[in-house]
Amino acid sequence: MPVEPVHLTNVGFAFGDGALRRPVLRELDLTVAAGEVVLLTGPSGSGKTTLLTLIGALRAMQSGSCMVLGQELLGASQAARVALRRRIGFIFQNHNLLGFLTAAQNVAMSLELHPDFGDDAARFAEAERMLGRVGMTEFASVVPAKLSGGQRQRVAIARALVAGPGLILADEPTAALDRQSGRDVVELMRDLAKRSGMPILLVTHDPRILDVADRVVKMEDGRVVG
Ligand SMILES: Nc1ncnc2c1ncn2[C@@H]1O[C@H](COP(=O)(O)OP(=O)(O)O)[C@@H](O)[C@H]1O
Ligand SMILES: [Mg+2]
Repeated sequence: MPVEPVHLTNVGFAFGDGALRRPVLRELDLTVAAGEVVLLTGPSGSGKTTLLTLIGALRAMQSGSCMVLGQELLGASQAARVALRRRIGFIFQNHNLLGFLTAAQNVAMSLELHPDFGDDAARFAEAERMLGRVGMTEFASVVPAKLSGGQRQRVAIARALVAGPGLILADEPTAALDRQSGRDVVELMRDLAKRSGMPILLVTHDPRILDVADRVVKMEDGRVVG
């Protein structure tokens, strides 16, 4: 059994049925090693988001093998997929913070099912500690609308990391940010991940951040090409 956090073999995926069936991933192999930061790049429509949603157990596998944190996702039950999702930190292009909650409340929500944080006070304290690690201490009680794009993405990073996930999946996390805040956000993710040995698989077509990766994987038309 592979020990890598992510190990894909011969993954295929198609949208639609019958005459409308359209393959978007073909014969795809990909591995992410423990503690590794991998950037997945390639043109729009090449299948990057689809691949990330399969690895994140957000979508059911169709063919091939997709081992994530020791769980085979081909044929996995809905319950197994839900359980796996709880062990993954997701970061999206549009932060997805809840607008009516403060930064700290948004982060604390990620701990609601965590056995080590049984009450609101404990969750809140841990959320504030995590906000400190992303440089957002003084914004703990601020709502997202009052934050800049870069600050919101920092809160989203805190939310993704607070429960100590085994893997971070990020889809274009810098797309809505200007050059400098985009870079800052990705460097912050990398530093936090490196400190805890957590691997990151990050989709981007932003060439300005490729150098933060341990490895860059390029996709084209549903295949890994380099
Ligand atoms: N829900 C969907 N239904 C049908 N086709 C889709 C769906 N999502 C994506 N696609 C198609 O799959 C291909 C890959 O899309 P996507 O994974 O989003 O690529 P990328 O993230 O690299 O831009 C594209 O041709 C896109 O139009
Ligand atoms: Mg995409």
